[in-house]
Amino acid sequence: MHLLKLQDLSPKQIVEILNTADQLKFEKKNGITHHLLKGKTLGMIFTKSSTRTRVSFEVGMYDLGGSALFLSSRDLQIGRGEPVEDTARVLSRYLDGIMIRTFEQKEVEDLAKYGSIPVINGLTDYCHPCQVLADLMTIREHKGGFTGNKLCYIGDGNNMTNSLIVGGIKMGMEVSVACPKGYEPDAEIMKWAAENGKFTCTDNVLEAATGADVLYTDVWASMGQESEAEERKKIFTGYQINANVMKVANEKAMVMHCLPAHRGEEITADVLEAHANEIFDEAENRLHVQKAVLVKCFTE
Ligand code: CP
Ligand code: NVA
Repeated sequence: MHLLKLQDLSPKQIVEILNTADQLKFEKKNGITHHLLKGKTLGMIFTKSSTRTRVSFEVGMYDLGGSALFLSSRDLQIGRGEPVEDTARVLSRYLDGIMIRTFEQKEVEDLAKYGSIPVINGLTDYCHPCQVLADLMTIREHKGGFTGNKLCYIGDGNNMTNSLIVGGIKMGMEVSVACPKGYEPDAEIMKWAAENGKFTCTDNVLEAATGADVLYTDVWASMGQESEAEERKKIFTGYQINANVMKVANEKAMVMHCLPAHRGEEITADVLEAHANEIFDEAENRLHVQKAVLVKCFTE
């Protein structure tokens, strides 16, 4: 099985992944080994930088009794123009699975189409499904469930937003998004969300955040948008999780950030530090949830 985007998973499959992740987390904390992927090798192709995704997948494979290869696209022939369809067929002869972080969603889809092993999306410009599975795991841990909770995302309508909308709606949460005009999430995803749950998108931060149980933000300029960073700082001013936003949210609201964070831009330092427990649980859960994804993808 592949994990190319969250739309491909049913709510039941998401819950199965979260349940396995909880179990694997409990076992790891209690020193119980679980070599469910003994002898398996994951290739990890990176066209963009990464701290959490790279380290958590590598440690995850080790925990599961397998191994992981870090493959920078700078060093692979794919970085010199070797077609994805050839790379996919070659790597399928050596590896048991591929995790890829790149720009275009189509590259990930093509890798899955032409290869014969599971492909996992470790972030594209379009989506970040592994991150959102970790986010859902963390929300469930901290809130005890999903129903009745309002998830509010403030900032750029980017890869994170696209996956959060899909994950939040699939789990039955109300989802609100606040972003500047012209920086909305994917139109098809918004249409799907409005048809399948309670979803709103506005340019008014306080309106979106009112009564929120979970507040989420991400960088104003994503990887690949470095040349727009200065212009975006002006456009996104005010699209920030800060004390004023916390005042209109539920008083027990949790704060989440996929990281890396830019203090003083999308989140203030004081809010980040006050909610560090939730934010670093979220980062830790990347490891546990990805192990669950690896087991599911390698065995189904
Ligand atoms: N959140 C996330 O994907 O982090 P990295 O870019 O460090 O992998
Ligand atoms: N939107 C960010 C997420 C990083 C995890 C980016 O694509 O750079």
